[in-house]
Amino acid sequence: MLSPAEKQAIEEEMRHYANRPSCGLEALKIVQKHRGWVSDEGLADIAEFLRVAPAELESVATFYNLIFRRPVGRHVILACDSVSCWIMGHDRLMQRLTAELGIRPGETTPDGRFTLLPIPCLGACHRAPALMVDDDLHEAVDPEKVGEVLGKYA
Ligand code: FES
Repeated sequence: MLSPAEKQAIEEEMRHYANRPSCGLEALKIVQKHRGWVSDEGLADIAEFLRVAPAELESVATFYNLIFRRPVGRHVILACDSVSCWIMGHDRLMQRLTAELGIRPGETTPDGRFTLLPIPCLGACHRAPALMVDDDLHEAVDPEKVGEVLGKYA
């Protein structure tokens, strides 16, 4: 069941759309912001609220790769996995990241602090290699300073 706060936020967002179903992606983002991810039950509740078929909303959720359909850690690290970052040290950065975290891409640390996910291009190609942690973009990341970056997130 959607919480009153989630319903209110979705209704406010709906004002910017021509009809309820068009608000699907924003509604998914709102629920994810409140819960950290979107479960099957959460997706079904959103679909009911928007009066769309769950399968239709699922197609939106799976197309848009920043809707998390499985639980994630408190902080999500999106590591750019594209050409400018490859050229500018992606491999070394990933080695340091996975060593610091003790996990591989796609995994969550046992303490639930971080999830590490690859993503195609963060739009910071001119300042590669790039990472995004939650809403923070980190550009020209020095692999030797990965520990400092991670230390900003409790
Ligand atoms: Fe890494 Fe664009 S290729 S930010």
